Amino acid sequence: LFEGPWDFVWASTHIDDLPPMVGQEIAFAGRSNVGKSSLINAVTRRNALARTSHTPGRTQQLNFFRQVGADERLTIVDMPGYGYAAVGRAKVAAWTNLIHNYLRGRPNLMRVYLLIDARHGLKDVDNAVLETLDKAAMSYQVVLTKGDALKKSDQQFMLEATYDEIKRRPAAFPEVLLTSSETGLGIPELRAAVGRVLAE
Ligand code: GTP
Ligand code: MG
Repeated sequence: LFEGPWDFVWASTHIDDLPPMVGQEIAFAGRSNVGKSSLINAVTRRNALARTSHTPGRTQQLNFFRQVGADERLTIVDMPGYGYAAVGRAKVAAWTNLIHNYLRGRPNLMRVYLLIDARHGLKDVDNAVLETLDKAAMSYQVVLTKGDALKKSDQQFMLEATYDEIKRRPAAFPEVLLTSSETGLGIPELRAAVGRVLAE
């Protein structure tokens, strides 16, 4: 599914400026610095498809990446991180608007992968986004990132604690994944999960 070359196709800063819909789309959302761009590089096996950074606020638009030449083209959307105040209030408001608007309605968006730092768990800003997704009946799956930063017992604890928090949410897929873009932990499972969604 993820084999073959990927291309950057579009960047949107405004909801009226989305690219034409081609095939199926999935999106990676989450707080600033949670590891969205890194995880996109890990699942596509492309080191520098999506730009990553130590500094929060790296991704400032909706970036669309598309598989080149495949029959059933998949588009992956790298979203700006939410919950990062240092870029200024106006920018935060604009991004938050863009993110919520996009997540509320994009007919070919099959599932949102909602990334949560495994060290920190769900925060209020995350729950606000989950609320938006639930209200829009936009299907999503929670993915813990940076699993390599935790020892085994803490990984298990965070998986269970996070599952407990999302299990009654209507649009949540009832399984939380644990990943690491650094070590490859959970990447095959994430690819398989995406594959099942697209085949539905
Ligand atoms: P914004 O675009 O700013 O919202 O950030 P992002 O969510 O795209 O995060 P990005 O992928 O740029 O990664 C942020 C930082 O986290 C970088 O310093 C990465 O090296 C680090 N990081 C990403 N994934 C992992 C991981 O699996 N393990 C560890 N230890 N660090 C990671
Ligand atoms: Mg990013």
